[in-house]
Amino acid sequence: AKEIETYKELFWVPTETLHKIIDYFIEELERGNADGTDPTGIPMNPAWVLEYPNGSETGDYLAIDLGGTNLRVVLAHLLGDHKFSTEQTKYHIPSHMRTTKNRDELFEFIAQCLEDFLKSKHPDGIPSDAVFPLGFTFSYPATQNSIFEGVLQRWTKGFDIPNVEGHDVVPLLMEQVEKKGLPIKIGALINDTSGTLVASRYTDELTEMGCIFGTGVNGAYYDRIKNIPKLKGKLYDDIDPESPMLINCEYGSFDNAHKVLPRTKFDIRIDDESPRPGQQSFEKMTSGYYLGELLRMIMLDTYKKGLIFKSYTESSEQIKNLETPYFLDTSFLSIAEADDTPSLSVVSNEFSNKLFIDTTFEERLYVRKLSQFIGTRAARLSICGISAVCKKMNYKKCHVAADGSVFLKYPYFPERAAQGLSDVFGWDGIDMKDHPIQIKQAEDGSGVGAAIIAALSHARREKGL
Ligand code: BG6
Ligand code: GLC
Repeated sequence: AKEIETYKELFWVPTETLHKIIDYFIEELERGNADGTDPTGIPMNPAWVLEYPNGSETGDYLAIDLGGTNLRVVLAHLLGDHKFSTEQTKYHIPSHMRTTKNRDELFEFIAQCLEDFLKSKHPDGIPSDAVFPLGFTFSYPATQNSIFEGVLQRWTKGFDIPNVEGHDVVPLLMEQVEKKGLPIKIGALINDTSGTLVASRYTDELTEMGCIFGTGVNGAYYDRIKNIPKLKGKLYDDIDPESPMLINCEYGSFDNAHKVLPRTKFDIRIDDESPRPGQQSFEKMTSGYYLGELLRMIMLDTYKKGLIFKSYTESSEQIKNLETPYFLDTSFLSIAEADDTPSLSVVSNEFSNKLFIDTTFEERLYVRKLSQFIGTRAARLSICGISAVCKKMNYKKCHVAADGSVFLKYPYFPERAAQGLSDVFGWDGIDMKDHPIQIKQAEDGSGVGAAIIAALSHARREKGL
């Protein structure tokens, strides 16, 4: 009982702390817009989307959406009138692909998925005169000097493939596409947050931000050219300083300097033992890639104090599993939180099936509470990015489009995030559905956003801009 109280306190983020984090977050957003090259700061990558969609864009576009868990190939039909339809196929990214030593393997895999998809849509052969404009959603930090390129700054979310960082990923993909003779030309390279924002804005013009709460955590919004000093000299001189520029914040790297985030010893260990210590500090406390690992570490710590799983020796297979980094993923916490059986029988099965551990009711209750603390902390912290952008841009009433496995599948995550916003903005007593700033489930994946952005940039080129 004492143990659980300790964790309750350790993982609770009081509203005053949220305010402190948000104030520093706003400074960091501005510092990133001014420069963005400091590795302890937020990159604030200009995404070269210089206009808002207005819902009238039309055309058929191919898109690939390389997310945290899946690769989707999408054929997006933009119908105008704020409507679109899609045909899409999801491909599982084989786990070894995240850390393959051969970069071509990843791009070959993507090209192969494209080929399979196109062949399935054209069983009698791909028309010889066809050219498919492609929107590429590449959900990693990339430096762009135009919409057609993206130089990978660094891998995140457990990807670690040599010779890609520092390279433009578009030619790496196109080389493999050409090898297969596919009639595809690049129409836009974008981030998933940008795609989420634009796809949702296409159908709902109150949308001001796109956010991902998934394997990674990040957000995008439109700023004004005048607020982005680092663009000086990169745009034509007579551009209206009021005109918009979409910014992919890459705020998963917020507070890499460790100034305000309330890191516990477990967060510090996750960071130290990761392939990229000192990077993605905010993401490591909030995203789906790390929540299972946090729970595993705490359970192991409690076991080592002799408080749980007492009948299993250190040399048992069960405890060896518990000692294996990343043995548990976020679904373990989701299941624990969702179990509403009186004896927590679903949790009991999870333990038997995944860890081969027979648990007592007290142990299951303990783990469920730990999951609640970890999940609640993630939700409360992750709204700091949204709050900071809304405060900086003075958005009083807007929609924030959200996507990602944590937002969609983790029980109570949307409610906890809304509660966090309510605490920060003082909406006590106002029903969640009436909150001025609302996080809404995004439209159908960010591949559609890639298609819309390709259409916008095509229209701009046609105008000679
Ligand atoms: C998907 C979006 O639904 O969510 C992707 O279409 C995005 O673009 C993904 O990358 C993020 O979620 P996760 O959980 O796969 O990281
Ligand atoms: C990571 C990536 C970022 C992406 C986010 C959500 O933070 O660096 O580009 O948007 O995950 O998928």
